[in-house]
Amino acid sequence: MCGIVGYIGQRDTVPILINGLKRLEYRGYDSAGIAILNGEISIVRRLGKLKGLEDALLDGALPGLVGIGHTRWATHGRPSEENAHPHTDCSGDLAIVHNGIIENFLALREGLQSRGHIFKSETDTEVISHLIEEKYDGNLLEAVRAAIQEVKGSFAIAVISRHEPDRIIAARKDSPLVLGLGNGENFIASDIPAILGCTRSVILLDNDELAEVTCDGVRILTIDDLVVEREVFNVHWDDEAAEKCGYEDFMLKEIYEQPVAIRETIRSRFQDGKVVLENSSHLTDDIVKAVGKIFIVACGTSYHAGLVGKSVIENWARIPVEIDIASEFRYRNPVIDKNTLVVAISQSGETADTLASLREARARGAKVMAVSNVVGSSITREADGTIYTHAGPEIGVAATKTLVSQMAAIYTLALYLAQVRDTMPQAEIDVLASELKDLPKKVSGLLVDIATIEECAREFSDCKSFLFLGRGIGVPVAMEGALKLKEISYIHAEGYAAGEMKHGPIALLERSVPVVVVATKGHTYEKVISNIQEVKARDSYVIAVATEGDEEIKQHADYVFYVPETSEFLSAIPAVIPLQLLAYCIAKIRGCNVDQPRNLAKSVTVE
Ligand code: M6R
Repeated sequence: MCGIVGYIGQRDTVPILINGLKRLEYRGYDSAGIAILNGEISIVRRLGKLKGLEDALLDGALPGLVGIGHTRWATHGRPSEENAHPHTDCSGDLAIVHNGIIENFLALREGLQSRGHIFKSETDTEVISHLIEEKYDGNLLEAVRAAIQEVKGSFAIAVISRHEPDRIIAARKDSPLVLGLGNGENFIASDIPAILGCTRSVILLDNDELAEVTCDGVRILTIDDLVVEREVFNVHWDDEAAEKCGYEDFMLKEIYEQPVAIRETIRSRFQDGKVVLENSSHLTDDIVKAVGKIFIVACGTSYHAGLVGKSVIENWARIPVEIDIASEFRYRNPVIDKNTLVVAISQSGETADTLASLREARARGAKVMAVSNVVGSSITREADGTIYTHAGPEIGVAATKTLVSQMAAIYTLALYLAQVRDTMPQAEIDVLASELKDLPKKVSGLLVDIATIEECAREFSDCKSFLFLGRGIGVPVAMEGALKLKEISYIHAEGYAAGEMKHGPIALLERSVPVVVVATKGHTYEKVISNIQEVKARDSYVIAVATEGDEEIKQHADYVFYVPETSEFLSAIPAVIPLQLLAYCIAKIRGCNVDQPRNLAKSVTVE
């Protein structure tokens, strides 16, 4: 939710900020702006995508060696030029960019207005700039420190002032912020890819910390003014991972990267018959054996990976699993004790509700295991341990490769628990491990010829509504298929357990409502075929995802997307691929921006 970037050094600042913002646009894209310090503070802001700002800056008439930039996802105040960041104080002497939400902004704003401050926007952010103005007494760092002590909520901010042109002050609470170290230049950003083109040496700022960033270095201090020595870490990602590399969109590129994402995620986790989980020293064998219940908490696509997790952990490790949408879990007073393990799944590691659930669980004595794609993200830092997915940066807002790697990670966790608790014969674990290792090849095969999916997309791209059905492991696949379609093509879609259809959704069925059915081979296959018959009897088209070699399905379905056979529980991975592609192809035909769907943002760091 909103991306921020800052630069101080010897180079022309505008191109550095724009390049950084391009890499952060996935976080929000309703408006963008920059502030450049060059004696005065010059601000340029534009409504709409970053391109508008970039075009406005084409003439290069904004020199300066210090600056901050922002790409916005509106929370307070509609998308407009006035509400775009950076914001200033009354004098225009300072500028600020902010990611997060100031919860007490109304009270603060009223107080500031009563003391004569004039507001130019509807944003919560602007209160911070006026607070800093009020506190400023010749020391920007101290003014920022005093200001943030008055705000409630979440923030990552970067502030520049005309009075102290040799520094940027940054601070964070519950919104991510990284510092990049260069030679005679330094950087600030919401996320590592924004600065990868400039440096690979990164420091992660922690909650309640401030940073004073100059050309010569960075100084980190706690809110209580203690100096912090923080390790610098080296980013190994390939810079190209954050580029389109010839693909039309990031989403398509990321769909095609799925075999590698799965392979990297399971690599070295199966060694000589042993399932190995790094970063899990908190999960000693005794603790694993004592676990009485597991909660999985997550949002959106990660929640669908969690549903797969519930099935396999219960079936393989025989531990009862409750699964919760994180925004519900945090407020529902769940029954947790010290023998509860909470698994928090979040590709970004920054989702506000998942982070809050993790904190809630730990406060109640549970151990928390994170599953995340982002090293050093908030969730990974607060969890007792993390299973990293190694999908590489995912830029498209719609999660694709991170989902399949989350599933791969969760399969690994379930097998680990089964092995330690001895709930499965070793021979079965070996078979599943070997099938898991085969999945990258099988998924690659699915990406070679997508002509049937394209044809199907052409036939149904004008439909107003879709139903997605599945049973067992097919339910999360159906739910994910529906989510992908609605979020990138804006077609209404619902994902349902097929057995529930006759309890309501069947009323929606008519010729113009296609039904996508996950009908891969498994112990409920016959039941799924019966559900397909019920759909056909209502005259709806049926699009089936079926197992290679299943000829019978052709009698029942209008389109069949075949996927290679694998063990029933693992089939969620191959089955979801054609549904991602169907959503992608329909969205493209409808002319939608698949990488940046309307109203969405990649990283939901607000509640
Ligand atoms: O970063 P997270 O995995 O915590 O994000 C959770 C959801 O916001 C996310 O999965 C969202 O539903 C996807 N972008 C949908 O494609």
